[in-house]
Amino acid sequence: MDLTNYKPQIAIVYTSVTGNTEQLATMLHQVAAKRFSTVGIYQVEEFPEAELCRYDAVLVGTYTWGSGEIPKEMKHLYEAFEHAGSKKLVTAVFGSGDRFFADFCGAVDRFRDMLYVHTELAATLKVELSPQEKDHARCERLMEVVLKRLALQKTGARVE
Ligand SMILES: Cc1cc2nc3c(=O)[nH]c(=O)nc-3n(C[C@H](O)[C@H](O)[C@H](O)COP(=O)(O)O)c2cc1C
Repeated sequence: MDLTNYKPQIAIVYTSVTGNTEQLATMLHQVAAKRFSTVGIYQVEEFPEAELCRYDAVLVGTYTWGSGEIPKEMKHLYEAFEHAGSKKLVTAVFGSGDRFFADFCGAVDRFRDMLYVHTELAATLKVELSPQEKDHARCERLMEVVLKRLALQKTGARVE
């Protein structure tokens, strides 16, 4: 199947208090927007959760709180995936954490485990505090994996 005109609907949904996860979300958005014009970036409070299934791919970004916990503002989104997730929805989860804490990026792990069950989880990405130049390549890799998974969903054929 020809994917030249394929315009997947992709959302990047994140939360961030001190800006680290936001920087990572912006990096991913820049990488994705080079390929597709149909990529939206949303703070979680602005994301239309009821329309989750309208997207081909959703990339979730979260910092970690407490002892490896999901921030409270992300709990709605977490539950929305549990109730409305589907194996047709390609997902990825990324986030910023601090290795000072025992459960590094625990919220990313918690989303990962749930998204693996309820959606077509393609990739995860953890960054220590604020993203560095080297993380740009990791963002590109994540997007590549997501796009390959989307292509696989659309055509049923592996894209190498
Ligand atoms: C009270 C508190 C608890 C935290 N708990 C964790 C944790 O369990 N694991 C972790 O990796 N980071 C933890 N962090 C670190 C943040 O996740 C980290 O600073 C992150 O970069 C913040 O992201 P943001 O800039 O997007 O808000 C904690 C930070 C605070 C203030």
